[in-house]
Amino acid sequence: MIEKINDAFKKYYGSEGELYTSPGRVNIIGEHTDYNFGYVLPGAIDKAIYAKIKPNGERNCRIYSVDYNDSAEFSVDSNELPKKQWGQYIYGVIKEIQKLGKRVEGFDFAFGGDVPLGAGLSSSAALESVVGFAISEAFGLGLSRFQLAKVGQMCEHNYVGVRCGIMDQFASLFGQKDKVIQLDCRTLDYKLYPFNLEGYKVVLLDSQVKHSLASSEYNVRRAQCEEGVITIQKHVNGIESLRDVNLDMLNTYKNEMEEIVYRRCKFVIDENQRVLDACSALEKGDSKTMGEKMFGSHQGLSKDYEVSCPELDFLAEYAKNYEGVIGSRMMGGGFGGCTINIVKESDYDGFIHQITDRYNSQFGRPPRVIDVVISDGARKL
Ligand code: GLA
Repeated sequence: MIEKINDAFKKYYGSEGELYTSPGRVNIIGEHTDYNFGYVLPGAIDKAIYAKIKPNGERNCRIYSVDYNDSAEFSVDSNELPKKQWGQYIYGVIKEIQKLGKRVEGFDFAFGGDVPLGAGLSSSAALESVVGFAISEAFGLGLSRFQLAKVGQMCEHNYVGVRCGIMDQFASLFGQKDKVIQLDCRTLDYKLYPFNLEGYKVVLLDSQVKHSLASSEYNVRRAQCEEGVITIQKHVNGIESLRDVNLDMLNTYKNEMEEIVYRRCKFVIDENQRVLDACSALEKGDSKTMGEKMFGSHQGLSKDYEVSCPELDFLAEYAKNYEGVIGSRMMGGGFGGCTINIVKESDYDGFIHQITDRYNSQFGRPPRVIDVVISDGARKL
């Protein structure tokens, strides 16, 4: 990929530039908790977006996408959203950086990557992060990784239309090799946990389902959580988000909210606790308990939060009943994408063989198997 980008850059712009990368992410546990200011446990992976940049002394950005073999050009002063979706991410990041009072000049840019698209590995956060990182470095803007994570998140809110939390961009920017990040999404305090589970492998099984519901239903879930918070706020002081709500409070005012709102909120409160439990298990080297929390997370995502689908339920259920799998659940926003599985090395081949076979008989196509290694976050190459 790096070679392709180098070649494309030379071909289209006739010069050299600086190369940057920012990865996709996995999330061990803590789903739909980030925008409720709770906890998550993601890590950056060895699949990333790569980008080469060079200031061109003009006001225009010339962009070339290696993966789409397509190009776009727009002015940094433009107020018109580019038509091409991939161009919108780059445009959105530029606009968000400008909102911070920073001056962005024109540049030449070529990018591409190996983060599978639509698999829930946050290829869009990887793109936002590498664009922000590269622009900040190229123009000496001195944006911190915290600022860049927020720039990426606000690009999603304001130019893509998904009111996402901060997990994906944070993981892409702050990831470290062999470590997962316990992030408190309220304070942005974080703690790195070593994640080299001796004798186990992390494998993703991509259902290859791409639901068009993902972004609209995502925003609906977020609104339902906010509705629950408003009900509790009428009775309890100091409540700002579901992070401040416990099960006792929720149960006390259960009758004042719709049943569906109650279930959404209960999931988030349970899921936050599961992240904390999984982290203390990880600290003690108790992979089994961590895995059980992952199974619990899937159950909640499927039944209470209702963001799963039959394909993901099948994969998680099959894995749960497989001896050598200690944890499995759907990962990311939901309605398609991957499950994340923690599998005993000695059982890996048998598991992949069997689950592929069964999934194929059930759904008429195999899942895509994606091995991942927890790796470093955004950097200059
Ligand atoms: C998507 C969003 C994240 C997070 C997850 C669900 O990946 O981008 O902010 O909310 O869904 O945990």
